[in-house]
Amino acid sequence: MPKKYIINVIPGDGIGKEVIPIALKVLKKLSRKFNFILEFKSFDYSCDYYIKNGSMMDKDGLKKLEDCHAILLGSVGMPSVADHISLWGLLIPIRRAFDQYVNLRPVKSLKGIDGVLRDKKSIDYLIVRENTEGEYSDIGGIKNQNRPDEFVFQQSVFSKKGTERIVNYAYELAIKRKKKLTSATKSNGIIHSMTYWDSIVEILSKKNPNVKTSKYHIDILCAQIVKNPDWFDVIVASNLFGDILSDLGPVCTGGMGIAPSANLNPDGKFPSMFEPVHGSAPDIYGKNIANPIATIWCCVMMLDHLGQTVAANILFNCIEKATLKKRFTPDLGGDMTASQFGDYICLLIEEC
Ligand code: NAD
Ligand code: IPM
Ligand code: MN
Repeated sequence: MPKKYIINVIPGDGIGKEVIPIALKVLKKLSRKFNFILEFKSFDYSCDYYIKNGSMMDKDGLKKLEDCHAILLGSVGMPSVADHISLWGLLIPIRRAFDQYVNLRPVKSLKGIDGVLRDKKSIDYLIVRENTEGEYSDIGGIKNQNRPDEFVFQQSVFSKKGTERIVNYAYELAIKRKKKLTSATKSNGIIHSMTYWDSIVEILSKKNPNVKTSKYHIDILCAQIVKNPDWFDVIVASNLFGDILSDLGPVCTGGMGIAPSANLNPDGKFPSMFEPVHGSAPDIYGKNIANPIATIWCCVMMLDHLGQTVAANILFNCIEKATLKKRFTPDLGGDMTASQFGDYICLLIEEC
């Protein structure tokens, strides 16, 4: 009997609505070829949904989304709805409710794509971003409003459990890779949470003597991942620092159009969610020119997660066959539309 997986799909907003159908077409092709079944259930949770219904998803939306093997998401956010409403009404609640505490964001050169750096050395490192707490918090508020001493405060939360588990996860990956781990910190300026982060990294580094641990303040880390990307292999970072690094990294390898990400619940108690790093790109939405590589690469990560590793590897190879032949969308200097690129990947799968 072929294995069957239920995938809950949220195209979301903007180019999410363009790249997700392309990814589904590719996945259908692949599942037929490799004899497994993917059942897609689509959810229209988005800014349009908010405008119609007054919320980003229905009351039992999380309950409905939970029932699956994985979630595939396009992007969330449009100028029609304030970002803090749309993102905190859909993306962030999913990450938190399903305890997707690891946000894994590979930064890896693809064959045939030079990237923007003068030195065209190949880049390959993993950003392990904490995904459920840290600087992203709803604790805060405005005080003394409309008085001369008005101020706003925003609390960060770094729990012992939350910090330990993300650093431990990063060590597990480092052990499987080059045994090198870099911690992103800023304990020279942020003296409570970041010194706490450093102390946990230090304790766990002693438990992992075979891994070479280094720490960089986030400012110089940004400089070094541009200047010397080959110094890095696994980088563990808080929610905000990981977010910043995961736009900076891909812009060096080729841009937001090729950056995948996985929101993982490593315990497997809840579904994990796969979504590109990029947003809804309102500036190019509706033109069929968004690069679908990031989302197709997310499908590679999703298939790996589901245990369909052969199909995952084949799909990644197809992406690189296309990029090697310079067959891609305008953001990388090519002349294909998004859907033409998707069809080309389907053709490459067929030829495998
Ligand atoms: P963005 O990633 O949407 O776009 C930044 C730039 O990158 C734009 O010039 C865009 O055209 C380009 N770009 C992005 N993806 C591309 C692709 N696949 N192919 C070609 N070019 C691509 O970031 P933004 O403009 O800061 O955000 C737009 C909206 O998306 C906002 O509402 C933001 O909050 C939201 N957002 C959502 C997510 C998410 O859902 N995970 C991530 C980032 C931003
Ligand atoms: C990302 C995005 C989100 C984040 C935003 C849209 C809340 O930038 O997934 O990188 O910061 O996590
Ligand atoms: Mn981001």
